[in-house]
Amino acid sequence: MTISTGERTKLLIDCDPGHDDAVAILVGHRHFDLLAITTTHGNSSLENTTRNALAVLELAGIADVQAAKGAASPLVGATHHAQHVHGKSGLDGHDLPLPSLQPVPDHAIDVIIETARAHQGELILAVIGPATNIALALRKEPRLAGWVKEVTVMGGSGGGGNMTAAAEFNAYCDPEALAAVMTAGWPLRMVGVDVTRTVGIDAANIEILRASGKRTAGVIADLLSFYMSRQTERTGLTHAPMHDACALIPLLDPDAMTYRETRVDVELTGTYTRGMTVCDFRGSPVKNPNARVAVVPNQQRLVGVMMDTVLSYP
Ligand code: RIB
Ligand code: CA
Repeated sequence: MTISTGERTKLLIDCDPGHDDAVAILVGHRHFDLLAITTTHGNSSLENTTRNALAVLELAGIADVQAAKGAASPLVGATHHAQHVHGKSGLDGHDLPLPSLQPVPDHAIDVIIETARAHQGELILAVIGPATNIALALRKEPRLAGWVKEVTVMGGSGGGGNMTAAAEFNAYCDPEALAAVMTAGWPLRMVGVDVTRTVGIDAANIEILRASGKRTAGVIADLLSFYMSRQTERTGLTHAPMHDACALIPLLDPDAMTYRETRVDVELTGTYTRGMTVCDFRGSPVKNPNARVAVVPNQQRLVGVMMDTVLSYP
C-alpha cells in the first residue's frame, strides 16, 4: 500500500460528527498535519457535533488540534439532522464522557480563513458535512479560493441520493453552500454517496477492533455497531459506511480511488431534486469542468487504512 511518507500534508477538516466523521478525524490526525477541525450542523445540532468532535479528540488523546464551532443552520431553508442514523446525541453507541477539551473562541469561518491565509498553497480543506462554513468563509474572504491547495468534499452523488431519491444528505442540508463550493474555482475532488455507501467497516472488522483490547478501537467498535445497525434497519447495508474517510484516504494513496473530471452543478429549485448534484458524465470534452468526481473505490485499500488507523491509537 503506497501511503506518502513525505512531509505530511496540511489539513483542515470541516465536519458534523457523526460516526463516519469520527473515523475520518482519526485518519486526518494520523496521516496528515491536521491544523484544525471546524464543526457544523448536519448529522446533529451544532452543540452535539462540536461536543462529539471534542470527545473523539479526547478519546484518541489528540491534544494538539484546535476545534472551532461554526454554523448551526444552512444558508437558506430549514435545518435537517440525521438522528435516525446517528442517534439523539449524533454519536450514539457508547456513552463518551463529556469532553474537558473546549472549542477555541474564534468562529469556524475565521479559523478556516486564517488557517488558509497562513498556509497559502499548502492547505487541503476536507468538507465532510454540509458546506455552510466553507460558503460563509468564501463570502467573507473571496481570496480564500486562491489560498487553498485543494478541496476534498464528501457530498453529493454521481447517481442517486440517500436523503431523497436525488440528493445526498450533506448536499441536501445546504445546497446553496455546496453550489458556492463547487463554483469557487479552486481545485476540487468530490466523493459522492453512490461510491461511499459501498465502502464500510463490517461486523468482522468491528470484532477485530473490539478484540484489540485498545480503548479507542473498543469505543469505535461500539459506535460503529450502533451505526451499522441503524444502516441495516434503514437501507439493508451490512457494514458501517465510512463515507467521510473516503474523502481523505485517496490523498494518501492515489490507488484507493478512481476519479473522473467532470462538471458538477447543484440543483437548487427542483421540487423533487433540490440538493441533487448533476454530474455530466456524457463524455469528453466536458464543458467548464469544475471537479474530479470519484467513480470507482478500491474498498480493500480504503478499509485497510481505516482499520490500521483506528488500531494505531491507544
Ligand atoms: O451522506 C453521508 C454524509 O452525511 C456523511 O458525511 C455523513 O457523516 C453525513 O454527514
Ligand atoms: Ca459527515
